[in-house]
Amino acid sequence: MKRGRVRAAAARARLARGTAAVLWLGAVAVYGAVEFRHIAFDSPLDVPPPETEAARQFHQSGENPYVGDAEAVAAGQKLFRQWCVSCHGIKATGGMGPSLVDAQAQYPRTRTQVGLFEAVFGGALGAMQPFGKRIPQDDILKITAYIEQLRSRQ
Ligand code: HEC
Repeated sequence: MKRGRVRAAAARARLARGTAAVLWLGAVAVYGAVEFRHIAFDSPLDVPPPETEAARQFHQSGENPYVGDAEAVAAGQKLFRQWCVSCHGIKATGGMGPSLVDAQAQYPRTRTQVGLFEAVFGGALGAMQPFGKRIPQDDILKITAYIEQLRSRQ
């Protein structure tokens, strides 16, 4: 009887360890695909798990599902005007901050959607502050989809 209880407890512990491993692997599969890095320091960015389906897809594939989505791009334009225009200009061609639409970039990674997200989330140097705690990830993706559209019209 007593031995049976010990065996049962050992089995439960094995099951718990197995479950933990499966959950951990699942979390890596869901959240771990893109490794975000700071564009200036190249240090890992601590980006929290995605809050929306679009952000989840982005974490997994590095593709921004809002690129080319008219409604999201229109929302991105509004957000860009709220958060970015004072330094990067109304068409993102630059002001006190650099142009975001030139072929030449200070940080070449920012010509991709992942690099743009990293720049906004984690910031760069000086006046380019991290916005990751102020702008939800889903809104950052709308902003970067809008920048993509401006680039395609250059
Ligand atoms: C207070 C001014 C300011 C605001 C507001 C600001 N930026 Fe910047 N941004 C800068 C400066 C200055 C730099 C150059 C940073 C450096 O040299 O490291 C920069 C750099 C960047 C870069 C890198 C450009 C390159 O050539 O590699 C991107 C991308 C960027 N900003 C996007 C944005 C977006 C999107 C927003 C709005 C969410 C925003 N910024 C808001 C000042 C600003």
